[in-house]
Amino acid sequence: MIQSVGNSKRWWSWRPWGRSGCESSALVPVVVEHFSRTNAEYQRIRSQTSSNGHPGLVDFLFADPDSPHSPETVFDRLRWGGLFIYVTSRAQDAAVCAQQFRAGRGFVIETQPTSIRADEHRLFRRARRAHYFIARKIDLIQIGQTTDRFTYHVYLTKRPDPEQGWVVCKEIPDTDKVITRLRERFPEATEEMITKNARKLVEKVFPVFLTREAAFLRILQRDLPPEFQNRLPKLYEYEKDANGFVKRMYIQWLRNGGWPITQIEFAKQSAKLLEILHERIGVMHLDLRLDNFVITKDGVGFVDFGSAVRVGEDLTQSPMLARLFDEMMTTSQIQRDLGRMKKTGRVTSKLFCDNHEKVDKAVDLFYLAMQMNDPHANPDFVDLVEFHRGSEETRLLATLTREILQPTDPQNPAYRTATDILNGIERVEAELKHLAPTPAAVPAA
Ligand SMILES: Nc1ncnc2c1ncn2[C@@H]1O[C@H](COP(=O)(O)OP(=O)(O)OP(=O)(O)O)[C@@H](O)[C@H]1O
Ligand SMILES: [Mg+2]
Repeated sequence: MIQSVGNSKRWWSWRPWGRSGCESSALVPVVVEHFSRTNAEYQRIRSQTSSNGHPGLVDFLFADPDSPHSPETVFDRLRWGGLFIYVTSRAQDAAVCAQQFRAGRGFVIETQPTSIRADEHRLFRRARRAHYFIARKIDLIQIGQTTDRFTYHVYLTKRPDPEQGWVVCKEIPDTDKVITRLRERFPEATEEMITKNARKLVEKVFPVFLTREAAFLRILQRDLPPEFQNRLPKLYEYEKDANGFVKRMYIQWLRNGGWPITQIEFAKQSAKLLEILHERIGVMHLDLRLDNFVITKDGVGFVDFGSAVRVGEDLTQSPMLARLFDEMMTTSQIQRDLGRMKKTGRVTSKLFCDNHEKVDKAVDLFYLAMQMNDPHANPDFVDLVEFHRGSEETRLLATLTREILQPTDPQNPAYRTATDILNGIERVEAELKHLAPTPAAVPAA
């Protein structure tokens, strides 16, 4: 009975690592059952999530004292915003463990140690109360780690407005954090150079980009067709620094989750959203790395409009902005990938070759064509996109990417817009349907 609780669902996890029959271990199902009756978030996520058995990240993780329960171990198993529930038969034990899940270690305590009666549960007759606390994972990376994936300080926080609830806070990072990151990235640079650059980033560059991002989020909110609501984040509030630049903003949390989608569906939804962004709203994203995608119950979404530019925007109006974009267009990962592939002949289309290191919609098209072939490069998507290397779907999409990047006539490429790519994906989808055996064609067992 206890085992089946741990194995039957994907979206939460508890493994009875401990001695079987240990008091606290037997209390876990009591708390799980309590959650399924009383916790609205648990009920909502359970109804929207699959039980496909992949070894991905989970939204709920229950642990007893015999299971690994340090903040570090728990952090790596939970999705961003996921809940850790520690269950024990001893009040003191819950209090001590809760101490470790304080802010600064990637979590906040959402429910302080509390207890429920356990002896009504038919499984359990000895201990009379199950003690537990709930901690939410609010940071993207663990304390002491650095990453190339993110630049700003981005974390989850709860807003007083119940309509908003948990939201994403994106703010300018501390100079010290930027110094640490630059030091790791440029070990040859002098300390003086590192400090000077870190200060320039924190005081000048980041505020400009965060202010632009807030403005873009407002444009998106205004111009996004209603059926695409919840696929680009809303801006709720922002705070400005003494110079009038945005230093912190609160935005809608597009929570990863929902039923898994096929690779072709992932590609199609991404291309459709990009088409809306480019052709309807008139905005280029320019940093469409998979890190800046989300897959929610409402579909594929994009976040991080920090590098966005309006179609037709004249960046030379501001020499500072022109310089910053010039720099970004030569150093960003997307541009480096494009440069490398152009050099090795893996990109020949005139569209991409001509727009290398330029601010252009082609930058988004190039990365979309690349990303749709490797959705699991974002670890959050392991459970959210069904992706099977070697499958017909994967093969046909890879062929489409080649046609986009290396067309038969590179001077006259067939794929020039998000709509062209979307049409290409839809053709692949039709071909797959055609290839799929119809029930009548499947031999009887
Ligand atoms: N509104 C949101 N909903 C869900 N997840 C979000 C949201 N905003 C940000 N995230 C997550 O946080 C991560 C970091 O946020 P974001 O990309 O905006 O900042 P950044 O990566 O530091 O910026 P940059 O890419 O310019 O360095 C994203 O990759 C995404 O995983
Ligand atoms: Mg980002």
